[in-house]
Amino acid sequence: MHSLTLLGIESSCDDTAAAVVRHVPGAAPQILASVVEGQTALHAAFGGVVPEIAARAHAERIDHCIEVALAQAGLSLAALDGIAVTAGPGLIGGVLSGVMCAKGLAAATGLPLIGVNHLAGHALTPRLTDMVEFPYIMLLVSGGHCQFLRVDGPADFTRLGGSIDDAPGEAFDKVAKILGLPQPGGPAVQAEAAQGDARRIPLPRPLLDRPGCDMSFSGLKTAVLRARDGLMAGLGGLRQQDRADLCAGFQRAVADVLTEKSRRALLDSGVAHFAVAGGVAANTEIRSRLLALCERLGVSFLAPPLALCTDNAAMIAWAGIEQFRQRGADDLTLSARPRWPLDQKSPALLGSGKKGAKA
Ligand code: KG4
Ligand code: ZN
Repeated sequence: MHSLTLLGIESSCDDTAAAVVRHVPGAAPQILASVVEGQTALHAAFGGVVPEIAARAHAERIDHCIEVALAQAGLSLAALDGIAVTAGPGLIGGVLSGVMCAKGLAAATGLPLIGVNHLAGHALTPRLTDMVEFPYIMLLVSGGHCQFLRVDGPADFTRLGGSIDDAPGEAFDKVAKILGLPQPGGPAVQAEAAQGDARRIPLPRPLLDRPGCDMSFSGLKTAVLRARDGLMAGLGGLRQQDRADLCAGFQRAVADVLTEKSRRALLDSGVAHFAVAGGVAANTEIRSRLLALCERLGVSFLAPPLALCTDNAAMIAWAGIEQFRQRGADDLTLSARPRWPLDQKSPALLGSGKKGAKA
């Protein structure tokens, strides 16, 4: 095995990102640069990511991101061994911006081009940060992702289950909206929950008693809405304590579901390593419940730093390194794919995540 230094490019949703990662066999991978330019402000007025605005912003910013990443790494294009780019799934305009840029660079320099699945980037991150051995179980929980994966190799993923409707981050954001809290909802709900009584208002744990690892969060969000309306009808308004109790109850319900389904994924698979990624993995109650579960089961718990759990290009460069070693490069016919399930064997998901805005 040779040492490899790859440029990674990510533009599948609302972050334009470029990174340089080097791997010398036998040593820990090194992130030489990682640049992320978010677009939150551009979309704020529209209440969600607008695909056309995202695509234009990616096209405008991607060259600059790459220049900054190369400058941070202190490298020229000629010093690289390849270019890895997110080729899907995601918003097609954004993915195209990245793929076209990467193809142009590959054609101009003769460097190998590696098309990477965005979800493979997330799923291989624990190897970038902790050099975990295969196999491991991965729980992706964010505003757009919610699935359990068994990871057996750089391109060997088995989907064990996932949300059949909303992703948990989406549910946190909607609950915040229902209760008049600011966005993003996760941190706001968590802060309120710290003052609340999780047992006061009974809320459902959807699909908890069903076998397998599938989950549902949409009914839970509706139950919070009903409970809020019930309290408001009785009291003529929502007191500070009611809001805190609703947040605490909701957060506990999400933590219960994620912990129980994680327990099943680990027991059914017999796998000894468990990793989490995604913005929701930042939630302290959820994180501590998952950590406690792993300690009880004697399983190692891996939680990469948040900057590498959310969308970034270091994970794409790293997945590119792992996959290039295994299968070589793509050619210039590489195409952008809006849909690209990681596990081709498992049935298609029914509308999980932000309805295609994030895959
Ligand atoms: O991974 P991420 O930054 O972006 C994607 O959606 O891919 O995740 C963002 C999501 C948002 O829905 C946000 O409300 C949620 O993660 N989140 C949290 C917390 N911090 C962020 N949810 C619960 N608790 C938190 N502390
Ligand atoms: Zn992502």
